[in-house]
Amino acid sequence: MLEELETLQTQALATLEQIGGADALPQWYRTHLGRKGNLTELLRGLGQLAPEERPAVGQKGNAVKKALEEAFATRQEILREAELEASLNAEPLDISLPGRPVAMGRLHLTTRMLRQMRAIFAEMGFQVYEAPEVETDENNFELLNIPPYHPARDMWDTFRVNDKVVLRTHTSPGQIRCMREYHPDPIRVILPGKCYRYEQITPRSEHQFFQVEGLAVGHGIRMTDLIGTMAEFARTMHGPDRRLRIRGSYFPFTEPSIEMDMDCIICEGQGCRICKYSGWLEVAGAGMVHPKVLANGGYDPAEWSGFAFGLGVERPAMLHHGIEDIRNFYANDLRFLRQF
Ligand code: DAH
Repeated sequence: MLEELETLQTQALATLEQIGGADALPQWYRTHLGRKGNLTELLRGLGQLAPEERPAVGQKGNAVKKALEEAFATRQEILREAELEASLNAEPLDISLPGRPVAMGRLHLTTRMLRQMRAIFAEMGFQVYEAPEVETDENNFELLNIPPYHPARDMWDTFRVNDKVVLRTHTSPGQIRCMREYHPDPIRVILPGKCYRYEQITPRSEHQFFQVEGLAVGHGIRMTDLIGTMAEFARTMHGPDRRLRIRGSYFPFTEPSIEMDMDCIICEGQGCRICKYSGWLEVAGAGMVHPKVLANGGYDPAEWSGFAFGLGVERPAMLHHGIEDIRNFYANDLRFLRQF
């Protein structure tokens, strides 16, 4: 059997040498090394040998297998190179031509702004909570203490999907989702995301825009916590000397409600075209979470309190970069986008 193995090896190697194209290689492999190949067939006879002969034959069998596999790999390599060479000669290719540059992408201005905001709130211990853009009417309005036919609905012109589903008009409905998920733990989150309003598109207003909502729920949370958080945010984001101004306001989901302005980052409060000569820019709507909203989220308002705020995203970016037209954010004009 040792001799048979030797013969098999010699013959197989000889046929391999004669193969002229890579196409014929698999057939050779099957014939000699395959599951039903002649080496396997031959070694099947191993069982009929006298036990003392088996080890030597087994070893030889392995050696032949290894030799054939190595020869196969080498032959395959040689044939591939030859074919590549031939195809290059057949179809000349100028490999000295410079390649085409791959265009580098970059982050959208809004994305960069959002990342900055997330980082600032992360420092203050706020996690990010993601809520959907397509919302129920219930979360977007009712559970935020805005019943149907309440005149406060006029504050948000709404894209409707059907009677019960809307494109969220603000990120506030995420508060309900978050409270229902986290209850009964305390909460400190921001909810960044896109909102939609059925509005005419003008240089100053888009029908799609981003907001960053904030929500803190806990024991003994007070208005001063809200103001402190907002002041820290404004100073980290817009400069250490920023001053805040608090005005009383109205939102159905907060009580009391406030609006926050900071001194104009363009004129430092002197008065300019951007701040309409008032010296102040609006930064956020905010307030203490309304007891009804806390209850809708599952928190007993007798024990828990919280604050919430809603920050704009595009508007401050416009101020920083002197962008006059909000429509640029969605126009996909590379000349605009490349500047940031
Ligand atoms: N959701 C409000 C809006 O889009 C903004 C807002 C105001 C959010 C006060 C709040 C808040 O969380 O407390 O007009």
